Parts: sequence; C-alpha cells; structure tokens
Amino acid sequence: MKEKISKKFEELFHTTGSFYTSPGRINLIGEHTDYNGGFVFPGAIDKGMLAEIKPNGTSKVRAFSIDMDDYAEFGLTEEEAPKASWARYIFGVCRETIKRGGHIEGFDTVFAGDVPLGAGMSSSAALESTYAFALNDLFGLNIDKFELAKIGQSTEHNYCGVNCGIMDQFASVFGQKGHLIRLDCRSLEYKYFPFDPEAAGYKLVLLDSVVKHELASSAYNKRRQSCESVVAAIKRNHPEVEYLRDANMEMLNEVKADVSAEDYMRAEYVIEEIQRVLDVCDALEKGDYETVGEKMYGTHYGMSKLYEVSCEELDFLNDIAKECGVTGSRVMGGGFGGCTINLVKADKYEAFVEKAFAEYTKKFGHAPKLYDVVISDGARRLA
Ligand code: GLA
Repeated sequence: MKEKISKKFEELFHTTGSFYTSPGRINLIGEHTDYNGGFVFPGAIDKGMLAEIKPNGTSKVRAFSIDMDDYAEFGLTEEEAPKASWARYIFGVCRETIKRGGHIEGFDTVFAGDVPLGAGMSSSAALESTYAFALNDLFGLNIDKFELAKIGQSTEHNYCGVNCGIMDQFASVFGQKGHLIRLDCRSLEYKYFPFDPEAAGYKLVLLDSVVKHELASSAYNKRRQSCESVVAAIKRNHPEVEYLRDANMEMLNEVKADVSAEDYMRAEYVIEEIQRVLDVCDALEKGDYETVGEKMYGTHYGMSKLYEVSCEELDFLNDIAKECGVTGSRVMGGGFGGCTINLVKADKYEAFVEKAFAEYTKKFGHAPKLYDVVISDGARRLA
C-alpha cells in the first residue's frame, strides 16, 4: 500500500511527503451507548488508512484517493467544499481544525486504506484521525488527543451528515496494541484493559455480511433522536438526567405512557447495554470469557429486537454462531449491515467458519468475509 501511495505521490506532485496512519476499530461491547453518555469497549485494529502528506505553500489542498481512483482540489474556506464525499472527510477535518484556532495551509496528499468500507469497522474515523493527527503534527498545532478525536466526530456531524458519538474516533486516536479501552463517554475517563483471548484459548473473528444499507445514516440519526426524546420526558421528573446513562429502568417506566412504544424499546436497550459493558469489563478482569460471550449475545438480541439495527443476514450469522456453540456473537458497530464479532473457543473455530460460509452462501447467494482481529496502536506518524 505504501509503495502504491509513494508512486502516485511522486507522479502527481514530483516530491515526497511524510506518512501518517490511523486504524479502524472493533468494539467488544457497548453499541449505541456513546451518544447516550454511556460506556464503550473498543480497540484499534491492524487495518486502517495510510496517507502521504506534504504542505504545498498554497491555500489549496490537492488530494488523491487510491481506492476511489479520484482526484480532488479544494480551498480551506467554507465556500470551497469539494463535491466528492471522500474528499469531504478531509475538508471537514481541515475546517474543524481551523475552527479550533489551528493555523493550517494547503497540502498535497495521496491516501489508501485496507479497512473494508461499510463493514462497521469505522473506515471513516480512520480517515478523519489520519488527517487530524497529521495536520496537528505537520503544522505544530499542539492540539491534544481528545480534541483530535472530536475534530473527527465534528467532521461527521457537520460535513458528512452522521450524528455519531465519540467511540470510533477515540479508538482510532487512542488505540494501544494488545489493549481494549473502556471509555466513559460522559466524563471521557478511560482505562486500558489487556486483551489476549488467544492466551485463554479463544479467537476473536469478524464475519462480514457484505451487506450495506443505504439509509444507514438517517436511521442512525433517528435512533439518536429517540434516545433524546426519552431523556426529555424523564427530565420532567428528574431534572438531573442529561443522558440515558443517568437514567434507570424505574425512571423509564415512569414515562412509559408519555413516550412511543418504539422510543421505549430503544431506551430500554441502551440502559441495559450500558450495564452490559461494565459487566463485561468485570468478567474480563477475572478471565471469565463465558460471561463475556453471554453478554455479547444479550447485545445482539437487544440490537435486533429492541434497537432494531440488525438485519436478516446478521441475525442469520448470529443464529449459526449459537448453533455452533460459539461463546459470544453479535452485530458490531452501528448496524444495518456490516459484521458480526465472534468470540470462539479455538477448537470450535474451524467448524464454525466452515458452517457459516456454507450456510450463508446457500441462503444469500454470496459468501461472507472473514477477518481475524489483531488489536493494534492508534494514530501515528510512520518513520
Ligand atoms: C457508529 C458511530 C459510533 C457509535 C456506533 C454504535 O460506529 O460512529 O459513534 O455510535 O455506531 O455503537
């Protein structure tokens, strides 16, 4: 990938730049909890975005995406936004950096990635973090790591139309090899947990349904609105409640008649899911992978039946995991397609993968994809 980028950079700009990379992420548990002020438990992976960048002494950005095979040129003011959606991520990061007082200038860049798009592994956060980290470094801006993650998140909100939480960008910036990170999305306190399932006789694998749902971002924003309307209702009795994180089932039941049945289910899922993250962290500290797995199935059930962000293909993969005695399995990320994350005992791995491939292909006419997970470091400059 690096060679391809170098070659293109040289061809387009007749010079060489610096290399920066940021990873995608997995999330063991804690889905749709981040924008509810709850806990998440992600880790960065060994797949990400890689970019070569060099300031060009002008006020223009000249960018080439290897994966899209597309070139874009844009300025740094709000009026000069590019049309291509891939370029809007880079433009957004520039704009959000400038809004925070960062003085940046134009640059040339070529980038590529190996995070599968739309698989729920946050290829977009990897892209945002790569550029947020690089601009901060190249222009000596001294922006702290939290703010770098927030630059990526605001890019999603203001330039890409997704009202996401902080999990993906946080994991991409703060990732650490061999560790998952429990993040409290209300206080932003975080703690690294060593994570080595192989040492305990397990494997962590992703099965990609290769399904992408077009309306995913509007459905995502709608889920967030549901959570906010339930908070508004609870707040009338409990003014201290700012997020669903601050609420419990008792408070939710007090407003059952005032919220829609759908919004009630959404909130029920979130309240339960926040607790599941804490339970999983406790279990992991004791090396109790069976409980970790049980909670993962709990998440899948909630995401499928209460939050309704699963789909037929993902439910099918989850059922096969259950049939094969897989320890834990669930849809990962925002949902509406993408991957299941599976915690499998080493001796059940082969039979599971074989059955999943055969039955999935038989039912849907195409195979899923398999990714082994390696927990890796966050955003960085390459030597
Ligand atoms: C997407 C968002 C995250 C988070 C997850 C669901 O990945 O970008 O902020 O909400 O969905 O947990």
